[in-house]
Amino acid sequence: MPSEGALGRLAVRSVVTIDGPAASGKSSVARLVAERLGVPFVSSGLLYRAATYLALDAGCEIDEPVAVLGEIRGHRVALEPDVEGNRLFIDDRDMTERLHTHEVDATVSTVATHPEVREWVNSRLREIPPPFVVEGRDMGTVVFPEAEHKFYLTAPAAVRARRRLGERSQDLDAVTAALLRRDQLDAGRLAMAIDANSIDTGGLSLQEVVAEVLSMLPGEKSG
Ligand code: CDP
Ligand code: CDP
Repeated sequence: MPSEGALGRLAVRSVVTIDGPAASGKSSVARLVAERLGVPFVSSGLLYRAATYLALDAGCEIDEPVAVLGEIRGHRVALEPDVEGNRLFIDDRDMTERLHTHEVDATVSTVATHPEVREWVNSRLREIPPPFVVEGRDMGTVVFPEAEHKFYLTAPAAVRARRRLGERSQDLDAVTAALLRRDQLDAGRLAMAIDANSIDTGGLSLQEVVAEVLSMLPGEKSG
């Protein structure tokens, strides 16, 4: 439960959206901002990753939305938003650690093109009771257009690739190529909401980005 103080600081309808490309810092920033506000953070990408994991595990045709959706519907998929971090359960088993492999990275953007899969993810997200901080690609534009606090994080591809390097067992060239490929596939649905605050995080530390976001929320002071 969020504390009274946190709700007081957040004041309004209490959904904060953070969008941006891969490794722009969305999940790290969302987690820390949510922690400061005392509300859960929600990682929408984990639901796309879970759908992809299930489709790969079942050997489905990835280009076939009906097959992918059949797999999703055949399992209990539960996203547990939390102040500490998001966990993704499939049939009551915590599968979070299996959702950030090269295979899932390489396939998730294709699975995410299927409107049926997007509809499934979006309905799951809209079931979550506010307040929360949610991060993804289209949170401020499509899923929560009414949110009163929207942020859009950017950073040059080279900076993002270096950030991701430490999290994957691949070399810089492979990480950069995978990132650029995903940028290209995600381009169609990654858009900045007209009422979003854009932050170029390229030259900023994580703490500096968090301070900037907090400074733009009502009642919060940076630092
Ligand atoms: O953390 P990272 O930005 O690398 O990825 P993610 O947030 O876990 O999202 C994985 C993939 O899911 C993205 O590359 C998109 O293809 C897709 N996605 C999406 O289409 N819409 C969202 N709101 C979130 C993720
Ligand atoms: O969720 P998304 O893919 O947008 O990015 P992330 O997973 O939150 O961030 C990728 C990595 O970049 C993490 O290890 C962050 O700690 C790091 N990062 C950073 O070093 N400086 C920033 N300003 C933002 C993120």
